[in-house]
Amino acid sequence: VVVVLDFGGQYNQLIARRIREMNVYSELLPHTTAAAVLKQKRLKGIVFSGGPKSVFAEGAPDVDPEVYRLGVPILGICYGMQLLAKTFEAQVERGVVREYGRAELLVEPDACALFAGQPHRQTVWMSHSDAVRAVPSGFQLDAATQAGTIAAMSDPARGLFAVQYHPEVGHTQYGRELLRNFLFTVCGCKGDWTPAAWIDDTVAQIQAQVGDQRVLCALSGGVDSAVAAALVHRAVGRQLTAVFVDHGLLRKGEGDAVMASLGGQLGIDVVRVDAAAEFLGRLAGVTDPERKRKIIGEQFIRTFERESERLGPFRFLVQGTLYTDIIESGTATAATIKSHHNVGGLPEDMQFEVIEPLKELFKDEVRRLGEALGLPASLVWRQPFPGPGLAIRILGEVTPESLHIVREADAILRDEVAKAGLERDVWQYFTVLTGIRSVGVMGDERTYAHTIAIRAVTSQDGMTADWARLPHDLLARVSNRIVNEVPEVNRVVYDITSKPPATIEWE
Ligand code: XMP
Repeated sequence: VVVVLDFGGQYNQLIARRIREMNVYSELLPHTTAAAVLKQKRLKGIVFSGGPKSVFAEGAPDVDPEVYRLGVPILGICYGMQLLAKTFEAQVERGVVREYGRAELLVEPDACALFAGQPHRQTVWMSHSDAVRAVPSGFQLDAATQAGTIAAMSDPARGLFAVQYHPEVGHTQYGRELLRNFLFTVCGCKGDWTPAAWIDDTVAQIQAQVGDQRVLCALSGGVDSAVAAALVHRAVGRQLTAVFVDHGLLRKGEGDAVMASLGGQLGIDVVRVDAAAEFLGRLAGVTDPERKRKIIGEQFIRTFERESERLGPFRFLVQGTLYTDIIESGTATAATIKSHHNVGGLPEDMQFEVIEPLKELFKDEVRRLGEALGLPASLVWRQPFPGPGLAIRILGEVTPESLHIVREADAILRDEVAKAGLERDVWQYFTVLTGIRSVGVMGDERTYAHTIAIRAVTSQDGMTADWARLPHDLLARVSNRIVNEVPEVNRVVYDITSKPPATIEWE
């Protein structure tokens, strides 16, 4: 394993993910993790991450000094570099440069192994204000920016490497190469870690944690909860009971598909609860988006608790929480954008111990796992679907009629995208009932009917997104079919906003 020690920077989980992409296992741990704890792992290297603090700040985050005696190479990134510089007594100057964004890097001719095979001049991504003025004794200068800042230094004999810029972000031209050199040349990693290996480790951990107790799991119909359930099922088999709360806010045909794949094909013990009437009852008259989300989240828990009492007792609860869910719902450092209904919505007096096997992963990593677990492609490659379902794709009140309209329109869009063979090229595509009515003309008659918006986006992980350039003739077919086949609709529009500034869902 290569451990990333977390100093609070924005991209830290991304560093771990980049490393896993190169088939080396990586996890993010707090910077305060004791060397004794790290020693128990099959440690090949350590990365000190970036962070928002200055190394000059009072109580600036530091590591256990024993970490330097573990005998594995260390790569300091951004804050991590300044920390190394401070620890090894270089001169660090405070707030003098302020380099943010793109910068030109000039690599020294005799730079260390991290730069092997890379050009002299390259573009990197910077985000810092403190700067290292002179390399500490024993270190060599590897690269500087065109502005003259020390951007990389190393002491290969002691296994210490540092870069001021961010190799983990896409804008850094040779970032992956630098990380690859660190992993394979410097740390001697083999790159034989695969999703299958992750599954074996996680299955063993779950087995050790659960013993012979029973486990409960909530299925939402989405990819994440399905993968979490399949993983736990592999670990504990029939000790797992999955409850599938059908809140009546699913897409057309979705409930049956979930039952067929998870219950049928994988043989998981799935109990389907038809709770549509209760959910619609509680949503009657509610139009505020956050209220809707809260109500659905709460009602979900209530239904779920009732079922768990009926089927229980259970000691453990599995949730398919992903890293991005945690970030978007607000952490100690990140602001709340929307309350995602699978995070933090659980009652405080919950009597379960929670198992969240996916909480350090990104969506595409979860998909790779799903495939390795033998889930059908139709399920693994299904587009993400929010916990609150179609309710947040209906602006205004959720009623049986509004659900019917958005569900039928959505089924047409999905059908046409599939026929065009674009299912995997687009991250998400769905329809929104906008709450707007407008005037139209059909068969010489005036109409005054609903407007459906089509939303289709490309994205890596849902954190940022761009609107998908769907072919115009595809859009034309979808528009045509919606107004013809869904009589309540007389106008179709296409959403051409990216995230940010918009979000993917409309509520
Ligand atoms: P937004 O709309 O915030 O969505 O740009 C980002 C991604 O998250 C999905 N989403 C949710 N997923 N529970 C979920 O499990 C939720 O409450 C929720 N809200 C949004 C959304 O579909 C997109 O993929």
